[in-house]
Amino acid sequence: MTPQIHILNGPNLNLLGQREPEIYGRETLADIKSACQKRCDTLGFDLFFGQSNDEGKLVDLIQAARGKAAGLIINAGAYTHTSIALHDALKAVDCPIYEVHLSNIFARETFRHHSYISALAKGVICGLGWQGYIVAIDAINTTVKD
Ligand code: DQA
Repeated sequence: MTPQIHILNGPNLNLLGQREPEIYGRETLADIKSACQKRCDTLGFDLFFGQSNDEGKLVDLIQAARGKAAGLIINAGAYTHTSIALHDALKAVDCPIYEVHLSNIFARETFRHHSYISALAKGVICGLGWQGYIVAIDAINTTVKD
């Protein structure tokens, strides 16, 4: 069976390209999805790519990765800094988790410095823009094929 990578995106990331492009870049979420799809095709992964502004829906999407995903990549947006519900859901996931942020959250406001996800992640990638997603896919590829 072809291994799957699940990529989940949180609130306001549907507005990428329009929202604070000087911080988050000019690429839209659709651009990022297609770059990820290309990389997954090259490496031989099926891709599930989702986004929600709703914390509960993100919990459902995290739960749906259980038993299916070879790796989970999550950019939880602002819920990164607030959500114990996402933290608990991620605790129940049985594959490596990679936390991605487009911006360098440590070079920004102090409320962005704490993440409820990092302690559960195999890796944290931030500040590389959309390429951070590709780095995370490559990291899962290495883990799966090791
Ligand atoms: C973000 C950083 C978060 O602090 C912010 O709330 C976002 C995007 C990033 O990708 O840089 O919505 O996760």
